[in-house]
Amino acid sequence: MEVRRWNGDEAAPLDLLLLADPSQTYIEDYLQRGQCFIAEMDNQLIGVFVLLQTRPGTVELANIAVKETEHGKGIGKQLVMYAIQIAKSSGYKSIEVGTGNSSIGQLALYQKCGFRITGIERDYFIRNYNEEIMENNIQCRDMIRLALDLQN
Ligand code: COA
Repeated sequence: MEVRRWNGDEAAPLDLLLLADPSQTYIEDYLQRGQCFIAEMDNQLIGVFVLLQTRPGTVELANIAVKETEHGKGIGKQLVMYAIQIAKSSGYKSIEVGTGNSSIGQLALYQKCGFRITGIERDYFIRNYNEEIMENNIQCRDMIRLALDLQN
């Protein structure tokens, strides 16, 4: 697998980005403000993530997705670890991520990569998305915020 910066002249990896966030408006905003990275295997796009500076010293892993046929093979974990390394080598002190209360697998993934829960934004998805989001038969209502200290 090869990971590289997405070059803004290429077609945006929208299909993948939409797996992580159903709002194209938010995705376009991330792409404009953040740095998008893509993962390729045999010249096929298999993964994507975006790093977005939120405050001085802090970067957010804004949108990580792996092609559906490649789920469960360890690629997501490799991408999270890669994002952590980029953030660290870029001098950030902390990396954050947010996910829905219904995103059980994602919550497991981030914690397995060292992130700890820092807070909950109650009703975030109710306030910010027009459509109801269901995952694992659970309504996605609250944003669970996690962070990893990069200074250790
Ligand atoms: N319970 C416990 N652990 C779980 C789990 C669950 N329900 N679902 C996943 N995991 C664990 C896996 O076991 C694995 O840990 P391990 O290495 O200790 O076995 C880890 O999470 C990651 O698995 P991996 O195979 O690397 O993940 P992936 O390649 O399937 O990618 C996503 C994970 C989230 C990127 C992928 O499912 C995806 O693209 N989802 C849609 C987009 C999305 O939701 N993005 C995140 C937005 S917040």
